[in-house]
Parts: sequence; C-alpha cells; structure tokens
Amino acid sequence: MIEVKDLTKIYRVNQKDPGVRGAVKALFRPQHQDKIAVDHISFRVAPGEVVGYIGVNGAGKSTTIKMLTGILAATSGEVRVLGRDPHRQRVANARDIGVVFGQRSQLWWDLALIESLNLIGQIYRVEPARFQQRLAQFSDILELKSLLQVPIRNMSLGQKMRAELAATLIHDPQIVYLDEPTIGLDLIVKERIREFIRQQNRENGATVILTTHDLGDIEQLCQRVIIIDNGKLIYDGPLSTIRDRFGKFRAITFEMAADVGPLVMPPGTEVMPAPAEDVTDARRLVLRFDRTHTTASQVAAAIMNQAEVIDFSLAEPDLSSIIKQIYNGALD
Ligand SMILES: Nc1ncnc2c1ncn2[C@@H]1O[C@H](COP(=O)(O)OP(=O)(O)OP(=O)(O)O)[C@@H](O)[C@H]1O
Ligand SMILES: [Mg+2]
Repeated sequence: MIEVKDLTKIYRVNQKDPGVRGAVKALFRPQHQDKIAVDHISFRVAPGEVVGYIGVNGAGKSTTIKMLTGILAATSGEVRVLGRDPHRQRVANARDIGVVFGQRSQLWWDLALIESLNLIGQIYRVEPARFQQRLAQFSDILELKSLLQVPIRNMSLGQKMRAELAATLIHDPQIVYLDEPTIGLDLIVKERIREFIRQQNRENGATVILTTHDLGDIEQLCQRVIIIDNGKLIYDGPLSTIRDRFGKFRAITFEMAADVGPLVMPPGTEVMPAPAEDVTDARRLVLRFDRTHTTASQVAAAIMNQAEVIDFSLAEPDLSSIIKQIYNGALD
C-alpha cells in the first residue's frame, strides 16, 4: 500500500549575513546550507496497518509525511502510495488519502462545520447516501451534533480537531496520515479521538500512519512502530519487541527505618544501583534488576534480612521511559 525506498529530503536553507551588505552579498553570491531532514529511509506498510511514526522534535517525521502525501517532492529515493508517485500524481492520490496536521487547520475558517463538510463531500463526489451515513456516524462518535452549525473559528482546540478528523475522513480515504492529532487536547477528547481512529481502522479498513509525542496514542492504537532519529530509521517493528527487549528491567524502592549501611546480595540475586537522580535520601534505597534473572521477592527478601524496611514499591517500566532510552541511543 505504501512503499518507501531510500527516501531522502534535503532542505536547502539560504544563508545571509545580517543587514543590507549581507543582502547585497547574498544577491550576487548566494550561500546555502543543506539540511538533511530525511536520510535514506525505507519501509513498507500493508493495508489495514496502524503504524506509529515516532522520534524527537526535528527528527524528520512531518517531512516524511509531507513526502508521502505528495505535498513535498523527495530529493532522492522512491515513494509509492497505492502504486502512484504521490507528488507527480497529486490529484489522483488526494482522493485516496486523508491528512490531518494537528498544528494547523485545513478547514474554511468562516464556514459552519456542516457547510465545510458539504463542500468536501462535493469536491470528492461522495455519494449522498454514503455522505449522510458517514455524517451520522461521525456525529455520534465524535459528538459533532451540536457543532455542525458552528463556524470553525469559534471552536475550541478539541472541537476543531474533532471537526478536522470528520472532514478528513468523510470521503472514505484508504490511507489516513495523522500528524499529531491529539496535540494539546484533554484526556477525554484524546480518548474519543483514539476510539474514532480505532473504529475507522477496524470497521472501515483504513490504513493509518500516526505521528505523535503522546505514547498513550501509540500504546492504544499501534501494533507497529517506526522510530526515526536525525532523519534515519533506527527501529521498525512490533511494539511488543521493544517492550520485551527494554521492558525487562524493574526498579524496586525501599523505605528504611534507619540510614542504610553497606548491604550484601546473596548469590543469584543480581541488582544494579539506581541512577543517582533517583536516590534522594539516605533512608531510601532504589535497586534495579533484570526480571528475567532475578525476581522481586528475591531482592525484597535479601534486603529485609539485613535492614528494617518500612515500605517498598515496585515500578513497571512505562513505554515512555523505554522510548527515552531508545532516543538516547540504547539501540546502538
Ligand atoms: N521548510 C523547511 N526548510 C528548512 N528546514 C526545514 C524545513 N522544514 C523542516 N526543516 C528541518 O528539517 C528537520 C526535520 O523537521 P520535521 O518538521 O520533519 O521534524 P519532526 O520530526 O516533524 O519534528 P516535530 O516533532 O518537532 O514536529 C528539522 O531539523 C527542521 O528544522
Ligand atoms: Mg512534526
């Protein structure tokens, strides 16, 4: 459905010294600097997949999405979406895709939502019966009923995003690109939007490429993630593989009755000291261990045999700490 091979985007940024002299100089001898935003990325996406496309700020996510949608031309490499070149065949491509950029609206600012939707329905020649069916479905799950008569400019951020999603999906696109669809939204709206995306994927078979900094989106929607860093693809695979590989460490925290002296671990119980920032006072002991080798009860028993413990707690590693490790180079 989507095929990307050695995809590369280099932005050419004009450089100019400050002031009039700089402007004149730039006129005669333009200076450029090249910025490699996407660096030889390759992947394929099959119909019906929901793929999370993640990376730190500036990693090249939006640039990739823009090339996939045909907004930007690639510097080199290949993109095929439904067998087409999305940039050369922009018009044909547009019918089959839907795009949401969470950072900016694509709707007509002054029109009431229903007017925007009607226009989009006509542009894409959505059959009237199908249009009504989609509208009813969206009104229900995105709670749009009370918003249909409201102009976009009067909507709150969360209302606008729900409107945006409806507008993007009303023509039944096969592929949906969502670039930070939940940015700045409260938990309830986020949940609603996730449910909507899930439903469009499950019931409508939409293929979804999702860019987000919200790992809740990823956990709830994606089986597969692609991680990019500095324009390069550093991971492509199931979310569960990352979890298994990096999620095997647990941290256990003990509150002691008195300051802790040196402690000895019995053979077979392997622990690592916690990172210094987690150790805030002398009566608190934080230990990390690999749960595939050592159990929490082994660690707890070893400590309790040597010191008086008031309380202890065990922390599951969350996805965000795992992703942070990967962003910090844990995959190298
Ligand atoms: N039009 C442009 N001209 C020059 N450089 C650009 C342009 N657009 C993006 N860049 C640069 O390309 C790199 C990748 O940007 P991109 O917007 O793709 O990142 P991103 O992964 O979407 O980041 P974010 O999470 O902040 O949205 C950045 O270093 C950015 O400064
Ligand atoms: Mg971006």
